[in-house]
Amino acid sequence: MNTLVTGIAELVTNDPSLGVVHDAALVVDDGSVAWVGSAGDAPPADRRTDLGGRTVVPGFVDSHAHLVFAGDRSAEFEARMSGARYDGGGIGTTVAATRAATDDELRGRLRALVAEMRAQGTTTVEVKSGYGLTVDDEARCLRLAAELTPETTFLGAHVVPAEYAGRADEYVALVTGPMLAACAPHARWVDVFCEPASAHAFDGDQARAVLAAGRDAGLGLRVHANQLSAGPGVQLAVELGAASADHCTHLTAADVDALAAGTTVATLLPGVEFSTRSPYPDARRLLEAGVTVALATDCNPGSCFTSSMAFCIALAVREMRMTPAEALWSATAGGAAALRRTDVGHLGVGARADLAVVDAPSFRHLAYRPGVPIVHALELAGRH
Ligand code: NIG
Ligand code: FE
Repeated sequence: MNTLVTGIAELVTNDPSLGVVHDAALVVDDGSVAWVGSAGDAPPADRRTDLGGRTVVPGFVDSHAHLVFAGDRSAEFEARMSGARYDGGGIGTTVAATRAATDDELRGRLRALVAEMRAQGTTTVEVKSGYGLTVDDEARCLRLAAELTPETTFLGAHVVPAEYAGRADEYVALVTGPMLAACAPHARWVDVFCEPASAHAFDGDQARAVLAAGRDAGLGLRVHANQLSAGPGVQLAVELGAASADHCTHLTAADVDALAAGTTVATLLPGVEFSTRSPYPDARRLLEAGVTVALATDCNPGSCFTSSMAFCIALAVREMRMTPAEALWSATAGGAAALRRTDVGHLGVGARADLAVVDAPSFRHLAYRPGVPIVHALELAGRH
C-alpha cells in the first residue's frame, strides 16, 4: 500500500539545497519517499491524503536534547531572569531528583517530551544521559532513552557530581572506565561538557580523555563546546573528528577556521541564549566561513526547557540573522549532518517519510509566526 500526499502548496525537500516545489505531491511507500514532483504529474496510488494547500517540510532533526530527568528548576530560571548567571551548577539539582526517580517516572517524562516534540514537527531526536552520574543511573537513563530513539548519547561527563567534589580526575577515571563499559552498549555517541570556565564541568585534558575512551569503545563523538567562554572544546572536537560541536557561543577566529577546515558540524542552540539571557552565537560568521550549521533545542530542565524547533528557527532568524531558508535547512538537514544520518533531514526519493506539515502557505511562517503552533509531524496510516 502506497499513499499519495496532495494539496501541498509548498514542499521543501532539501534535495538539492532547499529544493522548493510549489503545488507539489509526494508518494510514500513502506515508510520511505517513493516519488516527489508537481501535483499534475503525480502517479496513481493506493491511498490519498490531501493537505488542503499547506506546506510540507522534512521533519525536524533535533540533534541535541537532554530528556531523561526528574524534578523542576523553574526557580533557577526565575533567578536568572533577575540577573543570576548560568554556570551549570544547577545540574546537581536535577541529578539528585533523577537518581531518586523510578524507571516509570523517568520513562513517563521522557515519552511525554518526545510526544511533545513530535506534535511540533520533530521526527528524529537525540537523547543524552547526564543526570544519573553513577554507573547504574547512567546506564538506566540510556536504556530508557534507547526505548525511544537510536540516537542515544552517553554524557557521564556532564558535571562532576557532589560526591566527587574536588576529585574531578577520579570521576573522569570512573566515567572512562566502569561507567563507559556499562553505558556503551546502550549508546551511539559520547559527549562531554568541556568548559574550563565552569567550576562544575571539564577542562580540555579531561574532555580529551573522555572522548578518546568513548571512541575506543566504538562510540561517535559530540562535544558541549565553548558555551560559557572561548575554550578548548571546539578545536578538540575538530581534532578528534567529532560529528558535532554544540553551543559554539564564544568562538575565536582559530575556532571558526578549525570548523571550516574540518568535518565537525557547529550545532547552535539559541534557546539556551534566550533562556540564560546570554549573547547569541555568531551564526553569520560560521555560515560565511562555510561551516555546516545545525540548529537544535538542547531541551533540558536547566539552560533551556523548550521542545520547539520552530521556536529555535524563529530565534535563529530574529536573533542570529539566519535567513528563514538557512534556519530551516539547519533544523533538518543540518541536524541530520550532526548525527551523520543520510536517511532523514530531507525528502528526496529513498528518504524516510518523516514529513512535517506547516499550516501556512510557506515555510517562512515558521519564523514569521513565532510561538504559534502551526507545525506538526504528519501521521500517515501504514507509514511503517
Ligand atoms: O547543554 N551545558 C551543559 N548542559 C546543558 C544544560 C544542562 C542543565 O543545566 O541541566 C546544556 O546547556
Ligand atoms: Fe546540552
